[in-house]
Amino acid sequence: MMTHKEYLALVEAMVEHDRHYYDETKPVISDYEYDQKMQALIAYEKAHPEKIHPNSPSLRVAEAPTEGFVQKAHLVPMMSLANTYSKEEVDAFLKRVYKLLGHESVDFCCELKMDGTAVSLTYAEGKLFHALTRGNGKMGDDVTANIKTIRSVPLTLTAKNSPEAIEVRGEVYLSLSVFRALNAAREEEGLETFANPRNAAAGSLKLLDPRIVQSRKLHLVCYGIAEEEAVVTTQMEVHRQLKAWGLPTADVEHIALCHNLDEIMAFAEKIHAKREELPFEIDGIVIKVNDLKAHKLLGSTGKVPRFAIAYKFAPEQAETRVLGITVQVGRSGVLTPVAELEPVFLSGSTIARATLHNADEVARKDIRVGDWVTIEKGGDVIPKVVCVDVKKRGHESSPWHMPHHCPSCGSEVVASSKEVAVRCMNPHCAAQRVRRILHFASKSAMDIEHMGEKVVEALVSKGFVTRLSDIYLLDAEALSLLDGFKEKAIRNLLESIEASRKCPLQRLIMGLGISYVGAETADLLAHEAKGLSQLLQMKEADFLVLEGIGEKTAHALFSYFQDPLAREEIALLLAHGVNPIAPEKKIEGHSFEGKTFVLTGALTQYTREEACLLIKKRGGFVNSSVSKNTDYVLVGSEPGSKYNTAKKLGVTILTESKFSAWL
Ligand code: IVH
Repeated sequence: MMTHKEYLALVEAMVEHDRHYYDETKPVISDYEYDQKMQALIAYEKAHPEKIHPNSPSLRVAEAPTEGFVQKAHLVPMMSLANTYSKEEVDAFLKRVYKLLGHESVDFCCELKMDGTAVSLTYAEGKLFHALTRGNGKMGDDVTANIKTIRSVPLTLTAKNSPEAIEVRGEVYLSLSVFRALNAAREEEGLETFANPRNAAAGSLKLLDPRIVQSRKLHLVCYGIAEEEAVVTTQMEVHRQLKAWGLPTADVEHIALCHNLDEIMAFAEKIHAKREELPFEIDGIVIKVNDLKAHKLLGSTGKVPRFAIAYKFAPEQAETRVLGITVQVGRSGVLTPVAELEPVFLSGSTIARATLHNADEVARKDIRVGDWVTIEKGGDVIPKVVCVDVKKRGHESSPWHMPHHCPSCGSEVVASSKEVAVRCMNPHCAAQRVRRILHFASKSAMDIEHMGEKVVEALVSKGFVTRLSDIYLLDAEALSLLDGFKEKAIRNLLESIEASRKCPLQRLIMGLGISYVGAETADLLAHEAKGLSQLLQMKEADFLVLEGIGEKTAHALFSYFQDPLAREEIALLLAHGVNPIAPEKKIEGHSFEGKTFVLTGALTQYTREEACLLIKKRGGFVNSSVSKNTDYVLVGSEPGSKYNTAKKLGVTILTESKFSAWL
């Protein structure tokens, strides 16, 4: 057990960690380390309750509210969960429940512990009234505008028995693919990356501009109803009821009714084994007493209820050696150190490399060639070096330093006083060229299939592609000179290049690789500008007035579009047949704006998709079922039951000709 002095130091350290986590959404230690420290802290406080420090993080459910959002009260306080990493403690949880309830015939509903951020959604008379973050548990930030950007969140509840007012609980999260793309874009833009999808989700939900939130493609999964006994009697029914109301819920195979410890552990193992395949991050499972009446009986211990516990998966770690530290050159010339590791098997895959981010990070952890290091991998695939085992270090080792010359072109690198990054400034550097072309061809840009690293390296080293527009000059003859390029490979690549000529404007803007311009900004520019030619004429101030574009980005955009080389490049791309398609403009102020439509029956002039697009383009919404919140039902020939429901509810019926006239 620690001394009181150590306890006080720990409280101070934990307050600092909370600040990193909640205020800056940028933790400096892993969740696992945090939980270990918290457990030590709580153990001390249990033994010395009289000595608990008033600042102890154990005394509050944290998360400082963000300025800029209106704060509102939750109908029922939002609690947190007790958590554990051990089977023994799960067993102890079960035993405690049995003891408190006075019997052992208790069922448990086991669910995924989504690694996101908690929200509560209130529906009044079936309509989404507001959505709040957890905040301090009693009051949260009103993030309704942001929540509405999540497509799966119904603005109105569908099924009949929706009560007058209901507060549902769930988790907002980012899919791993979106998380990785977001971080890659942020890295490209020189912004700090999010430590994990949870921080990215929490950070996104607190953005003040819902349009940027929309581009983050958040998801919601609901798992709770406040005051649930009013509607259902078990947690299993909670899931069914939420689904019946049209709310997004977990897949059925991710929910299990378990009767004892063995079944709970079997479910945990099944989920743990599947974790790598899931498109989102989870950090364990949540075990909840199924009978809702029992929840009331069990009560809570301050911040956490006694009816549930989170059983978390410890991140897997492995020890291996650093065989070397190489340096990668990014497309803007930034040099990134990479640890080349003796391959080890960790959480389902063989790890041979780990990014070391920058020279500061290498110095902070004092990672040297030849060192034995502990590497860690959570649910996400990006492994990291946690620490060095200094005891195993040989005498001959020396600290690592960033090279003074670019490993690709040999030109002298430049360290700026403003950022930690060190750059190769040579615009003709082959490594930068390869990265720029790979970025242009990537999925989020021109999406040219079959143009991976090996192919691009070969194209650059043969001198076939030195600038982006050269891609559109490639022909079968040139490609046949690449190693291993036979007829089929040549045809595939040429077809993908051809297909990319007709690309959405935002993807082309993204592909140009302008500093600070990621997918979000590219999208914004494509919507605001009429085409590339307008971008070439815009002044710095014209960029700056666009919402979501700051000074740095405006400056970078202006400099890029005024750069003679960039202008030449754009002209060549267009001359070689790249024909970007500008996004369709929304029609503003149309009488469809904000109105909800339901379609039924066969239309003659439009396909269903066309009709939906026409409505959406005018700011309307399309729902699949009729309720009293439906504004119009568009009726074709042989309409279904929706037509009758609409008549019963007195919803305005639109014939196809009336609809066309109104367009
Ligand atoms: S139930 C009182 N169920 O985990 C019960 N929470 O560490 C409160 N979470 O604040 C929540 N998946 O943000 C519940 N299936 C799940 C969950 C879940 C993730 C989050 C939630 C909560 C945190 C507690």
